[in-house]
Amino acid sequence: MNNESNAQPDSDPVQLIVDDMVRGGKPLRVLEAGAGDRSHVQVGPTAQVVGIDICKEQLDRNPTLVERIVGDIQTYPLEPSSFDIIFCWDVLEHLKHPERAVQNFLQALREDGLLVIGSPMVNSVKGMITKYTPEWFHVFVYKYLVGVKTAGEPSYGPFPTFMKYSMSPRSLQRLAREQRLSVEYFNLYEEKMQKRLKKKYWFINAAYRTMGPLVSVASLGHVDPKNTDFTIVMRKPATDRQRTAVAS
Ligand SMILES: C[S@@+](CC[C@H](N)C(=O)[O-])C[C@H]1O[C@@H](n2cnc3c(N)ncnc32)[C@H](O)[C@@H]1O
Repeated sequence: MNNESNAQPDSDPVQLIVDDMVRGGKPLRVLEAGAGDRSHVQVGPTAQVVGIDICKEQLDRNPTLVERIVGDIQTYPLEPSSFDIIFCWDVLEHLKHPERAVQNFLQALREDGLLVIGSPMVNSVKGMITKYTPEWFHVFVYKYLVGVKTAGEPSYGPFPTFMKYSMSPRSLQRLAREQRLSVEYFNLYEEKMQKRLKKKYWFINAAYRTMGPLVSVASLGHVDPKNTDFTIVMRKPATDRQRTAVAS
């Protein structure tokens, strides 16, 4: 969510992996998929950052982009093998077919390129609540409990949310195995908004304390009672031809 940034500090592992690529010296071509109005990771002054978003107003608010594409990441024909890094922060949960967007990213990624995905987990208490409650409830939570004044206004979040199982950490890890992508980083964490709401409202805290363990047991451990979000960084394998070229 734009208004609840999960922005990465300098020491963040994702930033360190990206810094490594930046240090490689080659000017990077980067895609912010579902760019929204901000970028989370520094990619250096020479990087060419392209943003794609279904909402033009969101793209126009993002100052870091050199190129803006208004389009649907599930269907937009991204140029094959054209990006060194693709970021997709807090977007897959808004898609009816997240797996199509991910396949689109993989074909658009250069060999040895990075796909960085950050999203809420469907198999979390927050994920389940989000999945099975209507949009007006999401607007209510953002506007009146979190205090986001723009919540529900046209072109501002919260955006319609589908939370498909095909964007769960488990599905993405399976995809990584199938496509021989190396997982450079994987992390589960409790995001700031949930922490803040639990601190601010005793009844939310109490509900999580009682519901969390119950839901976890009832789901046979499938639903995580505490963590809400995940980050995964996957690298597309280089072909033998490219490995030889780098080595020589
Ligand atoms: C919660 S915001 C996240 C924005 C930004 N990535 C961030 O982390 O701050 C979700 C963004 O996804 C965009 N979005 C939703 N569905 C999309 C789609 N099918 N194709 C491209 N962008 C989409 C929305 O317009 C919105 O800007």
